[in-house]
Amino acid sequence: MSKKIGRNDPCWCGSGKKYKKCHEEFDSKIVHYANMGHEVPDHSMIKTPEQIERIKESCKINIAVLDYVAENIKAGMTTEEIDKLVYEKTTEMGGIPAPLNYEGFPKSVCTSINEVVCHGIPSDDVILKDGDIINVDASTIYNGYFSDSSRMFCIGNVSEEKRKLVEVTKECVEKGLEMVKPWTFLGDMGQAVHEHAVKNGYKVVREIGGHGVGLEFHEDPWVSYVSKAGEEMLLVPGMIFTIEPMVNMGTDKVFVDEKDNWTIYTADRQPSAQWEIMVLVTEDGHEILSY
Ligand code: MF3
Ligand code: CO
Repeated sequence: MSKKIGRNDPCWCGSGKKYKKCHEEFDSKIVHYANMGHEVPDHSMIKTPEQIERIKESCKINIAVLDYVAENIKAGMTTEEIDKLVYEKTTEMGGIPAPLNYEGFPKSVCTSINEVVCHGIPSDDVILKDGDIINVDASTIYNGYFSDSSRMFCIGNVSEEKRKLVEVTKECVEKGLEMVKPWTFLGDMGQAVHEHAVKNGYKVVREIGGHGVGLEFHEDPWVSYVSKAGEEMLLVPGMIFTIEPMVNMGTDKVFVDEKDNWTIYTADRQPSAQWEIMVLVTEDGHEILSY
């Protein structure tokens, strides 16, 4: 919002239209919110229709990868085998797994079982057993555009307690999603997520959040799921971010594995669940891009 554009100059969004016929009014609306003290997005967080189309292509692969995992995941399998499924499906469709070599991450996907909150590293030594709950978090780069979503899988006979955690966490994402519309705030979404978790006796991880995504793996804004309505960043059409709360059965405290510097565990070793969707803010609401 800082660069001065003439009213007859081409709009910053790349539409080719004059600024005054395109985003001028939109920008002044944002400035109005900023003047009221709200955090507001800058132009780099607002995707153009062309970028959105390309990001959707990446999402298609990400969804297909998770569908492929869903068809094949079973007790007795190692998380290394899940990694292979993800690598094969992603590359077969022309994509690159975004986690691979991302800040030194050694595998193509995150696999987080039971008390692992997130960023579990696939391994030959980790075998899925009856009663486990696992999050498989896939992210794809396609023609330079990023997608990111994750699902939970219940392996065999899962206890009623753990199954409920998985279900309620999914509901948390849905409750948050309902709040996503332009000219509201990220905190409206975050509060809805948090309230539903707390109502069911759970806690939401505070230190790890979601993020903008599309042109990069992790973009601004950082997204909290313990935020308050009316707070956090203003949402405007063209923003894309993730809803990916980590919901814990016990304490919300977590710690990172000192040996691998990636794996996050619950401090009390009680189970944690997470679902992640990637959402676009549209003119009149939202659209789910990846799930
Ligand atoms: N997919 C994770 C997310 O939701 C990111 C994992 S980073 C990795 O943001 F390197 F561990 F893959
Ligand atoms: Co994410």
